[in-house]
Amino acid sequence: MTQSVIELLKQHRSIRKFTDQPVPQDCVEQLIEAGQAAATSSFIQACTVIQVNDPTKRTALASYAGNQAYVASAPVFLVFCADMHRHQRICEWHQAEMLSGFTEQFITATVDCALFAQNSAIAAESLGMGVVYIGGLRNQIEQVSELLQLPELVYPVFGMCIGYPDQNPEIKPRLPLSVVLKQDVYEDKQDLAAIEAYDEAVRHYYQTRTGGKKVMGWSDQISAMLVKEARPHMLDYLQGQGFLKR
Ligand SMILES: Cc1cc2nc3c(=O)[nH]c(=O)nc-3n(C[C@H](O)[C@H](O)[C@H](O)COP(=O)(O)O)c2cc1C
Repeated sequence: MTQSVIELLKQHRSIRKFTDQPVPQDCVEQLIEAGQAAATSSFIQACTVIQVNDPTKRTALASYAGNQAYVASAPVFLVFCADMHRHQRICEWHQAEMLSGFTEQFITATVDCALFAQNSAIAAESLGMGVVYIGGLRNQIEQVSELLQLPELVYPVFGMCIGYPDQNPEIKPRLPLSVVLKQDVYEDKQDLAAIEAYDEAVRHYYQTRTGGKKVMGWSDQISAMLVKEARPHMLDYLQGQGFLKR
């Protein structure tokens, strides 16, 4: 019996260890077509996926992503790029002068990419595969762009490892519904109390998953992470690629 879509979604957990079982190319293409079926802002279709097969390139990408070995070893590695380059070419072809660099276009292309990728991820999971997104590619995004020969108006939003799971990690608990679902207005009076209880669930998750090595609540993680700079090179990089100029 096929499981319901909602059940499938709630079974999600990132997979970072894959079996050697190859993913046939027609299967990869199905995942991409599922991605393409996602809604796309003003029908702009601003996502281009680069499937990276070359082992040398994979090794380089694994290193750029902060030595994430599964980037090199996963059966499939995809880089999801926000792409307004093809739109620029089309405008030239139509002798129309494209106005680029708008923040709105950056948002549109990035959202398009995320929706595309998540559709592909769900499609992969529905076929018994596992995935992990690789935002780590943005650690050394200049080098990634050079390696993949990305033109102006294209940037790699994230990568994705795909393959058949060789691990069965527990599902990571998510925030309580009351924290993420509001009625009519933004109201957060009760949120910290709810998050305190949630911290306990997250601590328990880590306790069982790491055998007690990493026992941290969610709020501890967040408050430790957000006191650090977040890839401060991104604005210069994106402007260099022609995004976020106005
Ligand atoms: C855009 C994005 C980038 C991510 N980048 C990485 C990454 O570079 N390496 C990694 O191991 N996991 C990465 N993850 C996976 C998250 O760590 C993971 O989704 C989160 O901890 C929740 O765990 P779960 O997916 O198992 O539910 C990324 C997830 C997203 C959505």
